Amino acid sequence: MFADKDISKFNNIETPFYYYDTDLLQKTLSNCAEAAANYQFHIHYALKANFNTVLLNQIKAVGFGADCVSAGEVRRAVEVGFDHQKIVFAGVGKSDKEINEALDLDIFCFNVESIQELEVLNELAAKKGKTAQVAIRINPNVDAHTHHNITTGLDENKFGINSWDLPACADTLKASANLKFIGIHFHIGSQITNLDVYKNLCVRVNEFATWFEDKGFTLKVLNVGGGLGIDYYNPDHQIPDFAAYFKIFNDFLTVKPGQEVHFELGRALVGQSAALITRVLYIKNGKKKNFVVLDAGMTELMRPALYQAYHKIENLTRGAGTAVKYDIVGPICESTDCFGKEVEQPESFRGDVFAIRSAGAYGEVMASKYNLRDAIRSVYSSEI
Ligand code: LLP
Repeated sequence: MFADKDISKFNNIETPFYYYDTDLLQKTLSNCAEAAANYQFHIHYALKANFNTVLLNQIKAVGFGADCVSAGEVRRAVEVGFDHQKIVFAGVGKSDKEINEALDLDIFCFNVESIQELEVLNELAAKKGKTAQVAIRINPNVDAHTHHNITTGLDENKFGINSWDLPACADTLKASANLKFIGIHFHIGSQITNLDVYKNLCVRVNEFATWFEDKGFTLKVLNVGGGLGIDYYNPDHQIPDFAAYFKIFNDFLTVKPGQEVHFELGRALVGQSAALITRVLYIKNGKKKNFVVLDAGMTELMRPALYQAYHKIENLTRGAGTAVKYDIVGPICESTDCFGKEVEQPESFRGDVFAIRSAGAYGEVMASKYNLRDAIRSVYSSEI
């Protein structure tokens, strides 16, 4: 990801900042688009992974749609120029205001997560004299075998409509004159690296599709969500295996004539294309521990503090090396403000530039103002 020229240029840029490799992003997008085109699969990029407009412009340009979880994301997608008819809107807690805004913007589909939401959407659409297209998000009770904080498709999770509520859901759909039921939607979790999980999902999707078809419904859309993981341990493994991922759906999903298969990928598209670049403020050598104190912390990249997520850490100034074990920490007044414990690094010094890799997804967008920190900045490979 880093050419030597970039590293020397980083020395002259105020840290911390997110460094986006827009060439790598382009390669990743093209690779995904080509793999999906083999099966006429439709891709919606999940804005929640990163709603940076520079990236969104690139993503829109390959023809992907947008998967949004708030009116703010819908608005951002429209502003950037995503086709309205390629925007889907999910989320367990859409407010009336958000639903009204999305109705006004004539989005493609609402991924609805409860029977009550169906009723509210029908009522609000009726007031506007509109018909809203809906897909039902079903909780398939499939274990994604990922971190429990980012698993979403089990009975214990708040997402989607549970199978035992589907008969009532079907009745509501039939009774709702201002809703057009177009399909079923699933999303079982994120950072999924065991692709067999998706075979289990396909089996469940087939079962639910048959259940609805037996009730006389026609399903135009099978939306299987996102979740494809990236290799945090080896960020130079830059592009996820999209071909293998899509092949599973081609092999295991029963797709009827006229049916479309939709995906909502976030992390896999943007995750490897950024690093958080930060500088060493201080080195503290203790009796039991050595600390590298960086000028970036959990306010810039929250994943390690929130999920104990692993991100590879590199001292760009010194290169590779394993001379000293450091706890790599940030400046925030919280003990969880730590990017890694006992991380082997070359001996490091004040002013060294560090990269925290694989930070393109759920990095910049989850930054916070805690401790009244300055807003995090972005630098793009195309501009340095
Ligand atoms: N569709 C739905 C309905 C979702 O809830 C999500 C992510 C996606 C698609 C995109 O999933 P992806 O392809 O990016 O895995 N902040 C966490 C991840 C939360 C994911 C939330 N939902 C993290 O930093 O790991």
